[in-house]
Amino acid sequence: MARVKIFDTTLRDGEQSPGVNLNGPEKLEIARQLERLGVDVMEAGFPASSKGDFDSVREIARTIKNVSVTGLARAVKSDIDACYEALKDGADPRVHVFIATSPIHMEYKLKKTPEQVIEKAVEMVTYAKTKFDKIEWSAEDASRSDLPFLAEIIEKVIDAGATVINLPDTVGYTTPYEYGQMFAYIRQNVPNIDKVDLSAHCHDDLGMAVANSIAAVENGATQVEGTINGIGERAGNAALEELAVALKIRGDYYPHETGLVLKEIKRTSDLISRLSGMHVPRNKAVVGQNAFAHESGIHQDGVLKHAQTYEIITPEMVGVTSNSLVMGKHSGKHAFKDKLKQLGYEELAEEKLMEAFTEFKKLTDTKKEITDDDLFTILTDVQTQT
Ligand code: KIV
Ligand code: ZN
Repeated sequence: MARVKIFDTTLRDGEQSPGVNLNGPEKLEIARQLERLGVDVMEAGFPASSKGDFDSVREIARTIKNVSVTGLARAVKSDIDACYEALKDGADPRVHVFIATSPIHMEYKLKKTPEQVIEKAVEMVTYAKTKFDKIEWSAEDASRSDLPFLAEIIEKVIDAGATVINLPDTVGYTTPYEYGQMFAYIRQNVPNIDKVDLSAHCHDDLGMAVANSIAAVENGATQVEGTINGIGERAGNAALEELAVALKIRGDYYPHETGLVLKEIKRTSDLISRLSGMHVPRNKAVVGQNAFAHESGIHQDGVLKHAQTYEIITPEMVGVTSNSLVMGKHSGKHAFKDKLKQLGYEELAEEKLMEAFTEFKKLTDTKKEITDDDLFTILTDVQTQT
């Protein structure tokens, strides 16, 4: 199995979600949980962006010992200096410098020619190397960049000292095949690419961030970036819990593994949802409330006979205590009986059980989800009727 490194940017790109604003203690609590989760790198913030961000990156770098902590910097000396000051006391610091490489960004945003962008990128990586051993360099909007130009600039920043090359799909524009082909091209056309880590960073504007990240892994990415619950700019980033579980479940097809402690996933997801105020949709893969819930009678019956009939991920794998059979209008007699057993009514006479089931079915016509309290009321009624 090839090991894929996980770079978590929940505290930087994730915090760029509109409406999210985490304070220092909240960020530290998340950083501690990300360490438990076993990410390889955590991007703690953008130190030059504000004093608050600088302080929390410094606090996290001083506290976290088992994960490499990084901070974001534009290709500007003062941003790299701010990262150095915030990260220098850390156990394994690294700086993450980026500059855009797509025609539209170079012309309209940076107002630079491609040659000037190469010059700036090399100058800033060379400068960063005077302060850091580990330097990640990102080609912002890589997926809309010209491939020969991308190969040329990557070769030069590696020569200047970059140790990780990141190719973001900044605007979530690419598709799995296309993104994978970009990684294959860079692997084939950049001389020293095997000496550095090659990283994927995907946004979810077209709902393909996780699929694109997996395509990158298939084509030579050794690191994947993303956030927990997929929070981030606009439609968000690749959801790391989905990626790690997909690689685990489909290990038969993808011989790649991450170092994530999968059992910590649910706890991490809940913490981030609570602190960021970004609620996880019920139907969200892996961590949504419905991810292990079965409502239809046919599914409930199947799961009671053999969980894998309708469950490809065990809830325990990701730290969820057990699956749940949601009592609703599609629930059948088997699931109903099983639920009563869980509630301590296994001794109920068949006749009473049938009465209770009839009452339960009547209730489902007026109520979408039947709670344990509803069931207790029904059971009390059928048992006390003479
Ligand atoms: O999406 C992006 O391009 C980024 C870079 C700053 C790495 O987040
Ligand atoms: Zn991003």
